[in-house]
Amino acid sequence: MEVLVKKSIEQSPFFVVPLFEGKGLKEASQYVDSQTASLIDAVIRSKDFEAKKGTSTLVYSPSGQMPRILLVGLGKEKDISLKGYKEVIGNAVIAAQGKKQTALSIRIPQELEKKFGPYACGYYGALAAMLAEYSFDQHKQKDAQVIPMSSCTFVSQLNGKDEKQLIKGIEEGRLVAGVINDIRHLGNTPPGIMTPTLLSKETVRLSKNIKNVSVNILSLPDIKKLGMGCLLGVSQGSVEEPKFIIVEYKGGAASSKPTVLIGKGITFDSGGLSIKPDAYMSDMKFDMLGAATALGSILAAAKLNVKKNIVALLPSCENMPSGSSYRPDDILIAMNGQSVLVENTDAEGRLILADALCYAHTYNPKDVIDFATLTGACMVALGNERSGLFSPEQSLIEGLLQAGSKAGEYLWHLPLGEEYSEAIKAEVADIKNLGGVGGSRYGGASTAAAFLQYFTEDPKTKKTYPWAHLDLSSCYTGTKGKSYIRGGANGFGVQTMVEYLRG
Ligand code: BES
Ligand code: MG
Ligand code: ZN
Repeated sequence: MEVLVKKSIEQSPFFVVPLFEGKGLKEASQYVDSQTASLIDAVIRSKDFEAKKGTSTLVYSPSGQMPRILLVGLGKEKDISLKGYKEVIGNAVIAAQGKKQTALSIRIPQELEKKFGPYACGYYGALAAMLAEYSFDQHKQKDAQVIPMSSCTFVSQLNGKDEKQLIKGIEEGRLVAGVINDIRHLGNTPPGIMTPTLLSKETVRLSKNIKNVSVNILSLPDIKKLGMGCLLGVSQGSVEEPKFIIVEYKGGAASSKPTVLIGKGITFDSGGLSIKPDAYMSDMKFDMLGAATALGSILAAAKLNVKKNIVALLPSCENMPSGSSYRPDDILIAMNGQSVLVENTDAEGRLILADALCYAHTYNPKDVIDFATLTGACMVALGNERSGLFSPEQSLIEGLLQAGSKAGEYLWHLPLGEEYSEAIKAEVADIKNLGGVGGSRYGGASTAAAFLQYFTEDPKTKKTYPWAHLDLSSCYTGTKGKSYIRGGANGFGVQTMVEYLRG
């Protein structure tokens, strides 16, 4: 989809006019021909549409130039958020596709250009439009597939420097959206296809021809040699080989310490021998979205030429029950020599992340941020519009919360602490993969995070690195999706990380 900017338009098959509640809706008629203007006036007089948040009305005009005008309510000007802006744009694109249109134009209100700045209006506008356009429907019959858009035109009167910023924002927004749609696609691909091996091949494919990016895939013999006993344990019940995928981006000085991103890449989580009940097993193809987010973040940063060194570590395997599966009561030895008692084979994410957190030490990192669909408990706590953020480091907490709010992706700071760390001490090993505070699963998101924290310290040198963990409870929507983004993987976290890495 092309994203264009025009000062005014004479014609458009689908013209979208966002309006503020209580600011007079007359403005809408000034962009259209007189015949269409009188129809809009009639809508306004009827009071059926008052620009309340989340409302819209489609006006059909007999004029050839503007056959469809979508009036969209932004709600009160003081209440509009960047997330709200993105939703309005996304909504408009999906509405246009719903009417089988392949081109649309959207008027960008001056108030928003002022509030968010021209760059952010362009960047997040283009991003939201492209994320909305994407549909995972390649497995449906051709005539049931969503038709791709050819163009989305933003109508803005900005001039000079501001106009340049708007255009720069659009270009960069398109780059990032392209990456996000690619990683959404990995997440949406059925688990029988999206194996660890395919994930590694797709990582190589998506990284090709990006300046300063290299990929190294560690296979079974390398993983054994490195002593990644936790990753090996989780993967041993599957016929699919595990992979440990390493992506490196050298955008900074050779001497500058890298930010290491780690992503959980379980391509299907059946629970293993602690098998999930059927209702909880569907959607578990999305259990590699932490890896997808880490991959999307490094590739987006590389495409934007961020002047930093970044590494992404993606441990990937399948969690399956079989005669060769790891069992509850097994003790696994992580790469750093620590022993882990398996109490539940469904708490597998923290295990594969443990080995990656150990491996991260080899980079002497500036900071380490991991992404994982780690616990149902986090979703119970926050719902699926926000993700949980855990870190012992105040500056990382603040930096990530700020990046999230700048990107219109919301995070919420949840606790680590001694009671959670206590809860995962084991009788027969150094640590166990299950624990609760006051009840076997109480505080499950925090005991999972405490388990990860344990591996941020090198047991020999006692060295730790600044670390944060994002429990991605909102990385996918249900099958139905939302009005501004379709169902399936939504790429949550990449926009936040781009803000964080750029900042
Ligand atoms: N992949 C799941 C967590 C999950 C559940 C993500 C629902 C998204 C939606 C994870 O591996 C898991 O199974 N966690 C268990 C942990 C428990 C056994 C301590 C859970 O949350 O029930
Ligand atoms: Mg599990
Ligand atoms: Zn899982």
